[in-house]
Amino acid sequence: MSQAATMPAPPPTRLPRHLAVIMDGNGRWAQRRNRPRTLGHRAGAKAVQVCVDYCLARGIGALTLFAFSSENWNRPEEEVGALMKLFLRMLDSEVGELQRRGVRLSFIGDRSGFPETIQTRMAQAEQHPPAQPCLALNIAVGYGGRWDITQACRSLAGDVAAGRLAPGDITETLLGERISLAGLPSPDLFIRTGGDLRISNFLLWQLAYTELWFTETLWPDLDDAVLDAAMAAFADRERRFGLTSAQVAGGAT
Ligand code: FPP
Repeated sequence: MSQAATMPAPPPTRLPRHLAVIMDGNGRWAQRRNRPRTLGHRAGAKAVQVCVDYCLARGIGALTLFAFSSENWNRPEEEVGALMKLFLRMLDSEVGELQRRGVRLSFIGDRSGFPETIQTRMAQAEQHPPAQPCLALNIAVGYGGRWDITQACRSLAGDVAAGRLAPGDITETLLGERISLAGLPSPDLFIRTGGDLRISNFLLWQLAYTELWFTETLWPDLDDAVLDAAMAAFADRERRFGLTSAQVAGGAT
């Protein structure tokens, strides 16, 4: 066997600073085992740990996970109820340990439809962030990209109505400051598991220049090898942000 065949693959030279993930395939994972969909969500919660551990180990500074969309409220009542129970259990069991490991937790989305207990736990989890966070973990709940753009517009419109802002002063930068995840770099890499090739109303504004990567792997089957494959694909991409290759090679970004 040649030496190259025994050598581990070199780590990618370029890692995303911010990873955004649609965690899809929990239901199918369970159905393939003739088990209820809710079991798939419980298995999915374990995969969240895999993903967080991966980001912490590699120094990826921000991770945004789509846990519950605005549209997910329309799922069968039993499934929504089971997801609420799971969220509450995770908030109770994981938050302390995450904070000890330097994770700063934030929730984005419209929380108003969530039970009071969950809303309170989410607010508590956001208090007392670690002094020196090594990972910003953002959980999207009751979230929709269109909702996000709408709430940012509504906030700006409020300023206009109050005379604090002229319509002509509204810029992309100003709107970007009112949108969820303001203050973080935009996601560099988006991953969707479960085989579907769409963005499903996730971070519509924030994903404008994000590299997209899709895998057939169902979310509960996520492991380091899948994430390594995503990182390798990302490292190979040329990010031009509308420039030419020559400009990028010349360091014009
Ligand atoms: C999509 O799979 C997944 C969800 C709607 C829920 C995601 C929740 C978790 C992974 C567990 C908790 C996580 C956190 C961060 C609190 P699906 O049900 O649409 O799967 P399918 O496409 O196979 O039906």
